[in-house]
Amino acid sequence: LAGKGVCIIGEAPGEQEEKVGRPFVGPSGSELDMALRMAGIKRREAHITNVLLCRPPGNKLKDFLRRISKVNKERAKDDKPPIPTPMECCAPRLEEEMAGFRHFITLGKTEMTAVTGQTASIMAVRGGMAELEATERTPPRKVMPTVHPAFVLRMPRWKHVFRNDIF
Ligand code: URA
Repeated sequence: LAGKGVCIIGEAPGEQEEKVGRPFVGPSGSELDMALRMAGIKRREAHITNVLLCRPPGNKLKDFLRRISKVNKERAKDDKPPIPTPMECCAPRLEEEMAGFRHFITLGKTEMTAVTGQTASIMAVRGGMAELEATERTPPRKVMPTVHPAFVLRMPRWKHVFRNDIF
């Protein structure tokens, strides 16, 4: 991975990705490939991964998180520790994959939050490079947040915005 220049982070495997065991091989992957090609980035020059390595039940991460939060409210009443979210479970693995990279592209809000800790609306921050200062454990990082290619597939008018952000 060390020789690769940019680390691109999506949310979680989709149906195709789950079958094949590789990120972004389905329709979102084609959209991403096109944006990368236009930016002159070859797939093999990038490390592409996801915040989560498991597909959320029914592909509905928000619903799943809502269920976890409900369960945790009940657990708190019984003084039980909360069960972790999928993001919390995957954080050490993601951090390990991110190590060695200084440039990141995050594809959507979950992804931006996982990398920067920011929770702003993705529409408010996309297209603006975030510069993260070095910490004890991590080097300085540059993060370009943009929208998710699946969003672009649903909203084709956003295609040029997505491509421009990656360019
Ligand atoms: N969407 C993602 O966020 N990641 C993939 O790997 C595929 C689709």
